[in-house]
Amino acid sequence: MKNEVLDAFSTAHGDSRGARVFFAPGRVNLIGEHTDYNGGHVFPCALTIGTYAAVRLRDDKEINFYSKNFPEKGVINRELNETEKDETKDFSNYPFGVLYMLRQAGYKIDRGFDVAFFGDIPYCSGLSSSASVEVLTGYFLKVLFNLDITNKELALIGQKCENEFIGVNCGIMDQFIIANGKEGYATYLDTSTLEFSYIPVDLKDNKLVISCSNKKRGLKDSKYNERRKECEEAVADLQDINFLGDLTPDEFETQKGRIKNDINRRRAKHAVYENYRTIKACEALRNDNLLEFGKLMNESHVSLRDDYEVTGIELDTLVSEALKQKGVLGSRMTGAGFGGCTVSIVKDEFVDEFIKAVGDKYKEVVGYAADFYVVSIGGGPCEIM
Ligand code: GLA
Repeated sequence: MKNEVLDAFSTAHGDSRGARVFFAPGRVNLIGEHTDYNGGHVFPCALTIGTYAAVRLRDDKEINFYSKNFPEKGVINRELNETEKDETKDFSNYPFGVLYMLRQAGYKIDRGFDVAFFGDIPYCSGLSSSASVEVLTGYFLKVLFNLDITNKELALIGQKCENEFIGVNCGIMDQFIIANGKEGYATYLDTSTLEFSYIPVDLKDNKLVISCSNKKRGLKDSKYNERRKECEEAVADLQDINFLGDLTPDEFETQKGRIKNDINRRRAKHAVYENYRTIKACEALRNDNLLEFGKLMNESHVSLRDDYEVTGIELDTLVSEALKQKGVLGSRMTGAGFGGCTVSIVKDEFVDEFIKAVGDKYKEVVGYAADFYVVSIGGGPCEIM
């Protein structure tokens, strides 16, 4: 991948002399979905697949963006002191938004640069290709401009870019795990305090299989922001809490009558119970109880399907077919939903059969093919020497 991104750099910017190469991972969330903007827990891990960037500083204030994933967009030129999102400048809004937020926060970035990106995360798949580009950009700017900034702060800058520059009201999960991933571990994060711990993921003779629905969606035009608003309305009705994640399921059951609208009550129910499931799932993994972990994953999907309503025929088919296969411990949608991917824990010896059977049925029901990836848990951002 290093050579490929350097080749892309040469194609776009003439030659690659002096260009440095950086990487940031994609992520998969094992459990704890739509809890991160509700002050709850999440349990994601970084992947070994992700985004690469080759970068070289310039002596002027121009920035030239290129992506090998979107060669048809050509080289997108911007000026260091632009201040607004520009729809005509396409994907460059993500890295440019990070640069803008860093400068707004007072970090000194006073030269332009040429950059080429190349990612091996399926685009728009719910494995966080955009957060990967955001954290990657923050990370190479930190290194190239000697910025005194922690990876946790880089995650917050990435989220600010997404919220205020791009216009998606996402939580902190994606940027946080991408900035702080650790090989072989999942990160148990309390999104109300940003305290976290690493839990080893020992799946024994099982593999993590990602099934990608190939239903493309961007969060900006999905109902993501609407879900967030529904949860905020529920919090307002409940009055004396800051977040839905403050409630245990029992507390929720006694107070839920205060939520005026039935839809908001169901959204809130998901957020409260999903947070509880995430706490339980983390305990289960700590105790090596993979069966319990898988059961909680399955319950998570049902709640996302019935109460949160973010799945759809594509993700539901992938999960229901997965659960019919031999050797499957658990399966659920992962990420925001509305398309994107599912994650399943599948016994080694049945992985091929799983891919064939789920893939065939998916094509029959949905009309186009799904893609499958057997993934490994990787670390956070780095420079590739
Ligand atoms: C997207 C967002 C995250 C999180 C998930 C759902 O990935 O970027 O902040 O809300 O959806 O869990």
